[in-house]
Amino acid sequence: MSRLVIVSNRVPVPKPRSGPHAGGLAVALAEALAGREALWFGWSGETAGSPGVPSITTVGQTTYATLALNESEKRGYYGGFSNGTLWPLLHYRMGLAEFRREDHEIWRAVNNRFAAALAPLLRPDDVLWVHDFHLFPFAAALRSLGCRQRIGFFLHVPFPPAALFDALPQGRRILEDLGAFDLLGMQTEADANNLREALAGVDVATPVQAFPVGMDSAGFARDAEKAAAMPETKRLAESLGGRSLILGIDRLDYSKGLPHRFRGYAALLKRFPEHRRNVTFLQVAPVSRNEVAQYRALRRELDELAGRINGEYGEIDWIPIRWMTRALPRATLAGFHRIARIGLVTPLRDGMNLVAKEFVAAQNPADPGVLVLSRFAGAAAELRGAILVNPNDPDEIAEGLDVALRMEEAERRRRAESDRAALAANSAADWAKRFLVALDATGTSVGRAA
Ligand code: F6P
Repeated sequence: MSRLVIVSNRVPVPKPRSGPHAGGLAVALAEALAGREALWFGWSGETAGSPGVPSITTVGQTTYATLALNESEKRGYYGGFSNGTLWPLLHYRMGLAEFRREDHEIWRAVNNRFAAALAPLLRPDDVLWVHDFHLFPFAAALRSLGCRQRIGFFLHVPFPPAALFDALPQGRRILEDLGAFDLLGMQTEADANNLREALAGVDVATPVQAFPVGMDSAGFARDAEKAAAMPETKRLAESLGGRSLILGIDRLDYSKGLPHRFRGYAALLKRFPEHRRNVTFLQVAPVSRNEVAQYRALRRELDELAGRINGEYGEIDWIPIRWMTRALPRATLAGFHRIARIGLVTPLRDGMNLVAKEFVAAQNPADPGVLVLSRFAGAAAELRGAILVNPNDPDEIAEGLDVALRMEEAERRRRAESDRAALAANSAADWAKRFLVALDATGTSVGRAA
């Protein structure tokens, strides 16, 4: 079997004595790598004065090769073009996107520099799998260095309608770059259709297919059951005093719809006062991308909203919202999912949202909680047992919460069972296998045909 080369913005290099990695991408790919020789290449997550040759770590059959960015590269490539321009645009948030030509130039230069560092490490029969929007021009950069290996690409986030992507000044050039890949993988059919339409406008014929990312649901269910007996979970359970837990877990990101969610919860307390004192909403949202101004503003907005809602509805012995911006280990969160009555996952747009899937996997089948899910999360296409809401409308969130809180056990079990079956049909390993089989089946590689 040929070696698999994974390229991603962040590389989860195992640290001595640390457990498995927590991020969705890392967890999903770890399964795909099992039993196969692999090279994982990308940014180390560090900044260094003069980035040089990749630093190499080998663990079992996987070699990790990482490069640092210098300060200006981090600003232009990561904070600037990736997170300040592409991220909002790909999440349909034109108004938040910042367009600075020099960021785009640095972003492209980093892609070129990384490609030049990877090229000498490649073997002729390697298969490459590149991940995420930071690396849109990566195959084009490798091709210009003469690399002819098969190269696939997977986008973990949404792809917007063609007319929206066209607002990006460098949009056409980026679409042309995508033509250097042999296969383009998206999370949903809707994303795939949007990208196909955009590519048609620049005459790129690379195949585009949907491969919804899966997860190891049986493993997560076992972790959740174990975590339910851990001190942290017990502490949380005891502190609820018999109230129903509504749980939100997200990176602190404006795509997650947190202000709308907070307002939705406030609307629940206002319009359905019978739930006051009977529920507690815990939102865990670890700070993320703090170097980008919009993220700092979001944090301030949420601090204020949480304070206002607690001020308005709180009582001497009941705090409606518990709000945490610290990160917690995935194993601890698994236990929190298990004891939650409601998983509240309402991104305004999301590629997949693995938290929604984790909530489903963590439930006790005999007495499961209910998922209230945005219909604009990729997961909504698979989790038909969830209560789907429009996350832009706080009243609809409130109504969804009310229905979920009043739902009878038989109905909860029926919905949870259907969602568990959907998860069982799509593990992370299945997802990776489907993508790699499709990549293998693509016609003559763009590079090799040259
Ligand atoms: O989901 C897209 C993504 O870029 C992931 O690849 C990444 O783990 C996550 O968002 C967090 O972003 P960042 O790497 O910028 O912290």
